[in-house]
Amino acid sequence: MKNHLNVIHSAHFVIKNLSLIGLLICTFSCKEPKKELVAEVVTNNKVSIDLEKQIDDCEFQLEITVPKLTDLTKHPRLIETNETTWEQVDNDELIWTSGFYPGILWYAYNITGNKKWKDEAIKRTEVFEDYKNIKVHHDIGFMMFPAYGNGFIIGDKKEYKDILITSANSLATRFNPNVGTIKSWSNKMHPRWKQHITIIDNMLNLELLFWAAKNGGDKKLYDIAVKHAETTMKNHFRTDCTSWHVLEYDSISGAVLNRHTKQGYADDSRWSRGQAWGVYGYTMVYKETKDKKFLDFAQKLTNKYLSLLPEDMVPCWDFDVANNPKEEKDASAAAIVASALIDLGTFVEKKEDQERYYNAALKILKSLGSDKYSGVGKTDSFLLHSTGAKSLGWEIDVALIYADYYYIEALSRLKTLQEQK
Ligand code: GLY
Repeated sequence: MKNHLNVIHSAHFVIKNLSLIGLLICTFSCKEPKKELVAEVVTNNKVSIDLEKQIDDCEFQLEITVPKLTDLTKHPRLIETNETTWEQVDNDELIWTSGFYPGILWYAYNITGNKKWKDEAIKRTEVFEDYKNIKVHHDIGFMMFPAYGNGFIIGDKKEYKDILITSANSLATRFNPNVGTIKSWSNKMHPRWKQHITIIDNMLNLELLFWAAKNGGDKKLYDIAVKHAETTMKNHFRTDCTSWHVLEYDSISGAVLNRHTKQGYADDSRWSRGQAWGVYGYTMVYKETKDKKFLDFAQKLTNKYLSLLPEDMVPCWDFDVANNPKEEKDASAAAIVASALIDLGTFVEKKEDQERYYNAALKILKSLGSDKYSGVGKTDSFLLHSTGAKSLGWEIDVALIYADYYYIEALSRLKTLQEQK
């Protein structure tokens, strides 16, 4: 384990070197003021977190849990309240969370450089290659990109390319051009809805399409992703920039038939993780397209989300029940947004926005790494206090594998950003 270093201390080192770097940049080219501004934001920020300690805590947890998770045909999904070890799901259940554990291991390799996490990530990625043919739901993006996508990007596993392209093609079969979105669920699994269902979570699956279009796949995958993002932007949000969870569209005319929820408190309530998927989704769509309308929209969703947060930066599972202190938190929403904010802070032009997003990310991460939310010394997860689906009566105040995934992704993004500066 590395020594715990406070980022404030490392910031002093970065500041000293930045004067020289800044001089060189201005001498040879003054064309990239945005990068300099970001450097300033990183070095002058008022919020400090002990990033190295939070990374060490993650590695400490993996040292404990990885040797316990020996059956590679099962994937960790949650730790029930008052339990300490991961409950797992079988490979053949095709559960949307299956790719997150290998994804965590890829990020662990990325931030620690420890080759053992790469070896573990490979073992746990390659068990579900057959998922590339899944066409029965939209979750193939959630499943394949954290595992195979990170394997390609972080682990340099170029041989994963064809698997990812096949996966993207499978996802694209669910696109309905009459509607302009990818169909999320099958009606058999969700009998409340009879026609074309799209949920806000689906935004995350677009990353797989963008990646495939850029890496040898059909260019129409890019068009599908953009169309889905545009249609969702038009229909899936209230005028106050909060998100509905489930939209049912007429499969032929594309008209919106109704706006409902599955995991929120009520059809018209503001499910926190839904808003988090929107924040992350539109930040990622801007990253991939560089279309300013998506950046503006990502900012609107983010500003709304941040305005609804309590003091500790971790939302209640639904913003519309947050007045009741007995209602449970959802740390997974916080982790998703923290990761998105680190990217968003580098995309926006105004220095005050950069600072606001960067500092908000740090505040969230600091809170998640604190004794209140950290699983260290208590359970096998990085984080506690997430809520998967209280409205359905399950996963209430538990540890969730995707909370850990987006948390370590955020730490990894933060570390990369600080190293770049
Ligand atoms: N994508 C499912 C969820 O957020 O629970």
